[in-house]
Amino acid sequence: MNSRGIIFSLVLVVVLILAGAGLLAMLGFMAEPSSPRAILAGGSGGPSLQASQVVFDPPRPEDAPTDIREGVMLGYHILMDTQTYAKQYVGNKLNCRNCHFNAGRERNTLSLVGVAVKYPKYRERQKYVTDLVTRTQGCFKRSMNGKALPPEGKHMQALMAYYHWISKGLPMYADVPWLGLKKLKSEHKPNPAAGKQIFAQVCARCHGDDGLGTAIAPPLWGPESFNDGAGMHKMENFSAFTHHFMPKNNPTLSVDQALDVSAYATSQPRPHFQAGK
Ligand code: HEC
Ligand code: HEC
Repeated sequence: MNSRGIIFSLVLVVVLILAGAGLLAMLGFMAEPSSPRAILAGGSGGPSLQASQVVFDPPRPEDAPTDIREGVMLGYHILMDTQTYAKQYVGNKLNCRNCHFNAGRERNTLSLVGVAVKYPKYRERQKYVTDLVTRTQGCFKRSMNGKALPPEGKHMQALMAYYHWISKGLPMYADVPWLGLKKLKSEHKPNPAAGKQIFAQVCARCHGDDGLGTAIAPPLWGPESFNDGAGMHKMENFSAFTHHFMPKNNPTLSVDQALDVSAYATSQPRPHFQAGK
């Protein structure tokens, strides 16, 4: 081989190396968009969330990391004893935990364990995506017949810290089976007169003969109850709650009895919801 031949071969080798590197770079570039999916698929069980990943095991508020513990604990206290810890925003005699038992740490009754992985979510009321701040304002203005909390204030921030802490470990957007009320299915036409009797026989001993509450159970109607804009004022929610969870710790009513007593309870007087308060 003469010198021209050697130079030609060298140039050829360099061109081939450059072309190869270019091809590899291009392949890498093309593979880029699919790589996040590849990471998910290679993760714990693929992109679809396995039921086994959704375990009910909320941590205790007092075990929160030290830098957020004060907030988590305040959020917990607001839910347990709203009358003391957020008095100025409440317009009735209820506490959040009257409906969200044990500050929402119970699997039954309007649990709040996992709410942090489900919001923001679409809500009919707003006809838009809604975050947990707005959702919580709803319960203050309606269930507590009170007024909205300043979003940046200590109370609201504490509630957010609490929701997030008790949702610890649940995968984002997981299907959390214990959230919400399981609505009743029945063809029964609710009968308020029959409901009045059920109330006297079953509910009155705790909620009072007049339904206005006693030392052991909160009011079901009247000036110190939730207002007519509250979720609980809807027949479907009141009846589901009553059938699944009342009497407390020992639910006994059939679906049809729960519908009857709910028709009676939701027809009783209660505060009227005023928007913009
Ligand atoms: C009279 C009963 C009642 C009281 C008291 C009450 N809530 Fe609720 N809350 C409900 C009902 C019913 C729902 C869900 C029903 C619906 O779809 O509107 C709900 C839903 C929620 C949700 C959303 C849960 C989810 O799964 O999406 C949050 C957060 C919440 N409440 C916070 C609070 C806070 C904080 C308080 C106290 C300031 C409170 N609630 C007081 C009845 C109540
Ligand atoms: C053994 C006592 C007891 C009986 C009987 C009982 N409840 Fe309750 N109920 C409670 C207690 C206590 C709470 C509040 C739970 C808490 O704070 O942990 C409550 C909460 C409620 C609430 C949500 C808070 C509110 O006041 O709006 C509704 C609704 C309710 N009960 C309906 C009923 C109905 C309807 C009956 C009859 C079928 C009934 N309860 C029977 C003890 C009772």
